[in-house]
Amino acid sequence: MSPPTIICTADGSHTLYVPELKEHYHSIHGAIAESMHVFIHAGLDAALLNKPRLHILEVGFGTGLNALLTLLYAPDFLITYTAIEPFPPDPLLIAQLNYPQLLAKAECEALYKALMAAPQKVPTPITPNFTLRKKREQIQQIMLDSNTFDLVYFDAFAPDIQPELWETAVFKKIHDALSPEGILVTYSSKGLVKRNLRAAGFVVERLPGPAGKRHITRAVKR
Ligand SMILES: C[S@@+](CC[C@H](N)C(=O)[O-])C[C@H]1O[C@@H](n2cnc3c(N)ncnc32)[C@H](O)[C@@H]1O
Repeated sequence: MSPPTIICTADGSHTLYVPELKEHYHSIHGAIAESMHVFIHAGLDAALLNKPRLHILEVGFGTGLNALLTLLYAPDFLITYTAIEPFPPDPLLIAQLNYPQLLAKAECEALYKALMAAPQKVPTPITPNFTLRKKREQIQQIMLDSNTFDLVYFDAFAPDIQPELWETAVFKKIHDALSPEGILVTYSSKGLVKRNLRAAGFVVERLPGPAGKRHITRAVKR
């Protein structure tokens, strides 16, 4: 299998392209722009309205961009971040990504390195307020404790590419793992995704999307 390659997206930020799947890790219209729009503004901002400390679950940690943006965006909030990623990208590739340069905060490079170098399984403090726990497992198989997470970044490959990750059974597991009023956000607004989220018990809303995408989805456990 040939390794992913680095691609520059429309806002100048990098993403990875997987030749076998003909799929990118982020939108080609802007990787940082998409992550900010979907996960930070539609997800993190909404979750922080209710709670000053959050337990976040990311499905598909990949390049760690969503964790880095979360860390930079909400440094004063207490965040525990559980990251599921069964196939972590090669660290040599990660080292070439331009997120620290573009985000241009003094501490950004060191924080990104710390996020990506954190060991599996062990809760690892990245800052005094932000603790990361990586899990090298697949979302279909992983066991999640009930009522644990406040916010889920659902960032799997697209439903056409990996339909098994978007099934009702997976969303039911996540629904059970969320606390009351917990939120799931994802970039996909496909009809099947929204139907499966509703079948899993979520209240689903469609929100405007970032460049190149009409809509995204936010789902709440009520
Ligand atoms: C759209 S990309 C990830 C984007 C990532 N959030 C980022 O910012 O780089 C999807 C990710 O899901 C991961 N993945 C593949 N199969 C998975 C599974 N069964 N469970 C969880 N994640 C999976 C892939 O390895 C990939 O890193």
